[in-house]
Amino acid sequence: MFEHDVIVVGGGLAGSRAALAIAQNYPGLDVALISKVHPIRSHSVAAQGGIAASLQNVDSQDDWLTHAFDTVKGSDYLADQDAVQVLTQSAPQVIIDLEHLGVLFSRLDDGRIAQRAFGGHTHRRTCYAADKTGHAILHELVNNLFRYGTKIYLEWYVLQLIYEEGEVKGLVVLCLETGQIEVLRAKAILFATGGYGRVYNTTSNDFASTGDGLCLAVQAGLPLQDMEFVQFHPTGLYPVGVLISEAVRGEGAYLLNDQGERFMANYPISHNKMELSPRDITSRNIALEIRAGRGIGGGEFVHLDVRHLGAEKIISKIPFAREEGMRLLGIDCIDAPLPVRPTVHYSMGGIPTTVDCQVLDQQSNPVPGFFAAGECACVSVHGANRLGSNSLLECVVFGKRAGEQIGAYVQGRAFPKLDPRPYQQQAEARIAALLNQDGSSRLYPLRTELQNLMTYHCGIYREEQILSDGLEKVQFLKSRYQNDLRLDDRGRIFNMELTAALELQSLFTVGEVILASARARRESRGAHYRQDYEDRNDSQYLRHSLGFVDSHQQVQTSTRPVNLSLEALDPARFTPQERKY
Ligand code: FUM
Repeated sequence: MFEHDVIVVGGGLAGSRAALAIAQNYPGLDVALISKVHPIRSHSVAAQGGIAASLQNVDSQDDWLTHAFDTVKGSDYLADQDAVQVLTQSAPQVIIDLEHLGVLFSRLDDGRIAQRAFGGHTHRRTCYAADKTGHAILHELVNNLFRYGTKIYLEWYVLQLIYEEGEVKGLVVLCLETGQIEVLRAKAILFATGGYGRVYNTTSNDFASTGDGLCLAVQAGLPLQDMEFVQFHPTGLYPVGVLISEAVRGEGAYLLNDQGERFMANYPISHNKMELSPRDITSRNIALEIRAGRGIGGGEFVHLDVRHLGAEKIISKIPFAREEGMRLLGIDCIDAPLPVRPTVHYSMGGIPTTVDCQVLDQQSNPVPGFFAAGECACVSVHGANRLGSNSLLECVVFGKRAGEQIGAYVQGRAFPKLDPRPYQQQAEARIAALLNQDGSSRLYPLRTELQNLMTYHCGIYREEQILSDGLEKVQFLKSRYQNDLRLDDRGRIFNMELTAALELQSLFTVGEVILASARARRESRGAHYRQDYEDRNDSQYLRHSLGFVDSHQQVQTSTRPVNLSLEALDPARFTPQERKY
């Protein structure tokens, strides 16, 4: 059995920032990072438009409380306000920290960090590195990890979270290169495993975004919170679904329908903010235009037009968006509009945690030894709808905070007692069973079928019967996966089909919890829009939902309260009210 004081799972922004905080503040601790991909290939590297902070470099009227208000209003009042306070108060300092770590932000003429407009934010507060911000930040964080000599388990996949006798004690892991299975013991474990975009058939997310951490938590008997809130980014490049950054609209792009209208003006909820309305609203409006036959040529997309910005601005501010259009579709946005439609982008829900990143169980008690941060966590700063550029911020604020909290937590804590043998044997048996099963169902068609089911049954617009049918079909498909799968590659060395089969288990588990949670919330709030319950219903549903799997392997749901602590500081803004823009 290997052991480390702290194990961080996930090498994206939250995981790298946490590991770095431990290395910097607690040099005596043995911290290891595990990632199924090289850390700089984590999905954070694909983040584009920026990271929000009320630095006041462009807009002197901005402050943390206004950032907090925009975030809470954007969340449709479901965010926990104590967590939002931590997020927005810490934001300016974490940007300065990043700069000191070497991150190259874009600059104003006077040399200060530039800031741009983003949807739902009332001030220009999004700091950026052109439209490659995630790339700029992640590379510096990972460089710094190498500088500190942090142990990295490169391309290891976590098979199980060991949660016994009321505490988290370790992990069972599979080395993808060799097929070797090991049990790792730790005094504390941080999950920073990212999102699950690949549950759907069209997503801006990387192939690795398969919700593994979420599934491991559920399999350990822990709940997931607010999983019905799936963010559709308004501008996925059609038809592939990759991200065309909101920065493009932040710099002034227009959304146009087939009649050449800036259709956001035609909806009362978006006629003030236009293209910079929050994502839930913008995505719904695009979907409505398409449904009404006003997609381009009556098709499944609208246009994103930047021609009026001019070549110089396009090349300097949004070069990656231009590159994507040219590389994937042969369209140069200097000369022609880009086809776009909503694409699955982000998970507002996740593993519930305290503001100090400690994971909560079904009764809202902290789970000893277990922490989570970043997209896989639900702390909850985004509630029912995240504002663009708040997710990189969440990763950096709560990644750093998790590292600091864990460093303090493990001081004086002994290694838990753990017998690795049964875990090792079970894992060996599970892998052998997957490799040797003689079924007739092939992996990739099963995965595609699941993704299509989720997209149809739990998209931007939802309804009770469609959700129920979806859950039933997903469960049926899952039983085929469990009982009738046949892998072509039966080896243990770099068996990517085996990895995909393990990931498919995660996709099924996450999909089930999303569907069950969406069915249980009979109201419309943020990104969760129920055609059969079109209004927000605070008296019944101003609560977080919890989805979990019971001892009979059935998905169940319950709820827990929302924190409204900023109400006392500023009732006019923070008391839940109708969300108008
Ligand atoms: O559109 C974007 O650049 C995405 C940013 C975000 O999701 O925060």
